Amino acid sequence: MTSVQTHSTKADAHDIRDINLADEGRKRTEWAEQFMPVLRLIRERFAAGRPLAGKKLSACLHVTTETANLAITLKAGGADVALCASNPLSTQDDAAAYLVRDHGIKVYAIKGEDKESYYRHIQAALAHRPDITMDDGADLVGSMHMIALDRLDDLEPPVRRWIEGLSAEERKQLVASVIGSTEETTTGVIRLRAMAEDGVLQFPVIAVNDSLTKHLFDNRYGTGQSTLDGILRATNLLMAGSTVVVGGYGWCGRGFAMRARGTGADVIVTEVDPLRALEARMDGYRVMPMTEAAKIGDLFVTLTGNTHVIRVEHMRLMKDGAILANSGHFNVELDLDGLAKVAQGPRPVRPLVEEWTLGGKRLFVLGEGRLINLAAAEGHPASVMDMSFANQALAAEHLVKQAGTLTRAVHQVPADVDRQVAELKLAGLGVTIDELTDEQQKYLATWDAGT
Ligand SMILES: NC(=O)c1ccc[n+]([C@@H]2O[C@H](COP(=O)([O-])OP(=O)(O)OC[C@H]3O[C@@H](n4cnc5c(N)ncnc54)[C@H](O)[C@@H]3O)[C@@H](O)[C@H]2O)c1
Repeated sequence: MTSVQTHSTKADAHDIRDINLADEGRKRTEWAEQFMPVLRLIRERFAAGRPLAGKKLSACLHVTTETANLAITLKAGGADVALCASNPLSTQDDAAAYLVRDHGIKVYAIKGEDKESYYRHIQAALAHRPDITMDDGADLVGSMHMIALDRLDDLEPPVRRWIEGLSAEERKQLVASVIGSTEETTTGVIRLRAMAEDGVLQFPVIAVNDSLTKHLFDNRYGTGQSTLDGILRATNLLMAGSTVVVGGYGWCGRGFAMRARGTGADVIVTEVDPLRALEARMDGYRVMPMTEAAKIGDLFVTLTGNTHVIRVEHMRLMKDGAILANSGHFNVELDLDGLAKVAQGPRPVRPLVEEWTLGGKRLFVLGEGRLINLAAAEGHPASVMDMSFANQALAAEHLVKQAGTLTRAVHQVPADVDRQVAELKLAGLGVTIDELTDEQQKYLATWDAGT
C-alpha cells in the first residue's frame, strides 16, 4: 500500500490521529448507538454484573463508531480494553479520539497508517498483556502464535523488535495468560481452524462469525449494502445497465449480488464450489468462469476470502475502463502485485481510485484492493453490527465463565446466544412472532402421529 506518514497524538496509552476529533466521534458514536438496542441491553446488564471485572482485553477490530459502542460495553463489564485496527484504512479517527478522551480506552489506530505503524499498534495491543483477545482476521492471535512457536522471523519488525526485548519467561507468560479469544470474520476462522488442525492453537477460540445472528445478517446484509455504498461513494457509478461480476457466492457474495441486482445491474457470478454456483444460477444470475466474465464486466467485486481470484490473465481480457474492487478480508483477492509488474501506474484519479494502463486499456482499482466498504464508506450499518457485537460481548463473557474448561479448539458461540440475540433484535425492531401451541409442541415431538 501507499505509505502514509502519520501525524499522531501519542502517549503511552494511545496513538491516534487527533484528540480534538473527540466531539465529532462522540456525536457519531451516539448516532450508531441508537441502532444498537441489543448491545445497549447487554451494556446495562454488564454494568450491573461486571462479568469482565479485572480482565485485560485486547481487540484488533475495525475502529468504527460501532466498535466504539462495543468497546464501551466491554469496559462497562469491567474489562480494561486496548484497541488496535484490523485494517490500515478502516479506522475512523474521530471514534478513536472519543474512546481515548471520554472512556479512557487505549486506542492505537490511525486511518491510512503505514505497515510499520499498523504492526506497531498490534504490538501495543500485545503489550497490554491481555487475558482475552478479540480479532477480526486473526492478526493479533496470529502474532501471538508466532511468538509461542518461536517463529520470530515470521513476525513483522515492530512486533519482533519488542518481543526480542522480552525474556523467555515473559514471552511464555504473554501467551499462557490468555483465557481465550474471539474471532469476528470468515477469513480469521479459516486460519484458526487450520491452526487447530495443525495442533498449534494455544488457547480456546470462539468463532463469532459462525453464529447465525452474525453471518446470516452481517456478512449478507451488512457487507452486501456497505460494499455497494463504498463503490458508489468512490466512483459515483450508475449501476443500472452495467454488468457487475461478483467473485464468490458465499454469504457476502450473495448479499452484494442481491443489492447489485436491485440497482438494475446485470449480475454475473463466478464460483469454484458447484453447490454455490448452482444456487447462484437458480437465484437467477449468470454463472461462468472468470476468463469469460472478464471480457464483459464493467465492475468486478471479489468477496471470497481467497487469494488472486482476479489475476493478470483476467485483467488483460477486461474492457477499457473496467473497475475492480474487493470486499473480502485481505487485499490479496486482486493480484495487484502482478498488475504492477506489467502495467503502468498507479495514477490517482479520485480519492481511493487509481488508474492502471495495461496493453493500452485503463483499469481502475478502488481502495488499493482493500475492503471497499470500510475504505470508501463507513463499513456495516450499526443495526447489523448490533447483532455481531452482541455476539462478541457475550462470547467474551462466556470465555470468562468457562475459563480453564474449554479445550484449545475453535468453539461455537453457545446455541442459546443466537436465540437470545435474535429475540432481543426482534424486540428492538418492534416485531412480535407466534408461539408454538401445546398441541404443536406435542406434534413436533412425536413420531407416531401420521396423516
Ligand atoms: N467487507 C466486509 O466487511 C466483510 C464482512 C464479512 C466478511 N468479510 C470477508 O469476506 C470474505 C467472504 O466471506 P463469506 O462469509 O462470504 O465467506 P464464504 O465462505 O461464505 O464464501 C466465500 C465463497 O467464495 C468462493 N470462492 C473461493 N475461491 C473462489 C474463487 N477463486 N473464485 C470464485 N469463488 C471463490 C467459495 O466457494 C465460497 O462460496 C471473507 O474474506 C470474509 O472474511 C468481509
